[in-house]
Amino acid sequence: MNAKGRLIFPLDVPDAEQARKYVRLLNNQVGVFKVGLELFVSEGPSIVDAIGNLTDAGIFLDLKFHDIPATVQRAIRSASCLQKVSFITVHCDPVLLEAVVTEVAEHIKILAVTVLTSLDSKALLSLGIREELAAEPIQLVLQRASIARQAGCAGIVCSGREATAVKKKFGEDLVIVTPGIRPDWGDVKRDDQARVVTPYLAVKNGADYIVVGRPIRTADDPVKAAARVVEEIEKGLQDRFI
Ligand code: C5P
Repeated sequence: MNAKGRLIFPLDVPDAEQARKYVRLLNNQVGVFKVGLELFVSEGPSIVDAIGNLTDAGIFLDLKFHDIPATVQRAIRSASCLQKVSFITVHCDPVLLEAVVTEVAEHIKILAVTVLTSLDSKALLSLGIREELAAEPIQLVLQRASIARQAGCAGIVCSGREATAVKKKFGEDLVIVTPGIRPDWGDVKRDDQARVVTPYLAVKNGADYIVVGRPIRTADDPVKAAARVVEEIEKGLQDRFI
């Protein structure tokens, strides 16, 4: 897969019109467009076909399912009817993951969300996570990656800080998707992301795909910003595991 193919752009916009605008604008720079809660809730499943009709890029349905197994199984069955979707996210929970992997259509890969990149040690502690795990989220991510692997998921979502450890342990058995990307040159300062790394570092550390939203969306020139991200991905691939 080339560098462009590894860039996921989240369509974090309120309506189909804006989603179409970004798909047209970034179609040559981006490998996968991500449909998240905001767009899916406002436009419904038809947005997936609307995007698919504009691009050959992949579509990632990022609804981060987390409910009792029977409910998520049904949601996965419904999502499986969306022919253009190639990735779907489910929160990491062993019983849940095992119940849903058998329900998903062949064209869709399930990614397990390990530890959200917006959570830092303090937040993990307040959620009741043991001190030694909260202090060093890598251990928690590895534990959850194991659960995902055992359940038969295609991949996981984790930060670029944990990607090396996951790649070392699971090799190509788990696809790593990494959000929480903040280029050195970006304008995005403090926001809700906590465990952040640059595009270069994420890929060098082993991320297979990176999710880059605001650093591209809020740039003066989103096309140029996306091209810069792709350049960093290329460099990260060259220096991988050095
Ligand atoms: O780059 P930016 O912070 O704008 O990216 C935000 C996107 O990353 C959102 O669509 C959000 O759902 C996604 N994300 C994710 N997993 C995380 C953190 C953010 O998929 N752990």
